[in-house]
Amino acid sequence: MEQSKFCKESLVIKTSIVFPTDTNTYGTLFGGKLMAYIDDTAAIAAMRHARKNIVTASTDSVDFLHPIHEGNSVCLEAFVTYTGYSSMEVFVKVMAEDLLTGEVNLCALSFLTMVAIDEQGKSTKVPAVIPETEEEKQLYESGKKRAEMRKQRKKETEELASKYKLDKK
Ligand SMILES: CC(C)(COP(=O)(O)OP(=O)(O)OC[C@H]1O[C@@H](n2cnc3c(N)ncnc32)[C@H](O)[C@@H]1OP(=O)(O)O)[C@@H](O)C(=O)NCCC(=O)NCCS
Repeated sequence: MEQSKFCKESLVIKTSIVFPTDTNTYGTLFGGKLMAYIDDTAAIAAMRHARKNIVTASTDSVDFLHPIHEGNSVCLEAFVTYTGYSSMEVFVKVMAEDLLTGEVNLCALSFLTMVAIDEQGKSTKVPAVIPETEEEKQLYESGKKRAEMRKQRKKETEELASKYKLDKK
């Protein structure tokens, strides 16, 4: 039997500075770059929790709440909030800091679902998660509902996908 893990055991904190090469034409962090950071930190959190190989199964919507400017530091915090049999929900919080003034803004929130896989690439069991803080408990308790919504969304995506023909004519 796999031992349950605390949320804090999977916590990942990644901080970097936004360079001109990371920005769009408006001088703010390119959305695709931030999404790659989000996926990276979520993957590390999931691997810390499961100590197994994982794949990203899905990303819930990412709302960019506040721009992240060139020269800001961008800090991502990620941890596993809820688990199923082989899936792990990872919550990612993105904050930016103006390093000259110290002003900090919450810039994005996202939930990702990562699935642990075995050597054959088949989904495999992960440890349960134990929430401790108020934030962790609230995220854990609401996690079951989000997992159910994702199952329904996946069904709808599969129905939509079945309508597409991939043969080129
Ligand atoms: C994710 C993947 C392994 C799931 O495979 P599958 O055959 O659907 O496996 P299962 O039906 O056994 O589902 C495994 C778990 O994943 C969850 N899951 C599957 N698809 C999901 C989705 N789109 N969103 C959220 N959870 C999902 C299931 O609910 C299940 O959870 P549980 O074990 O906790 O109950 C498979 O779809 C896959 O490999 N996808 C590609 C992943 C990838 O390449 N990611 C990188 C993107 S470039």
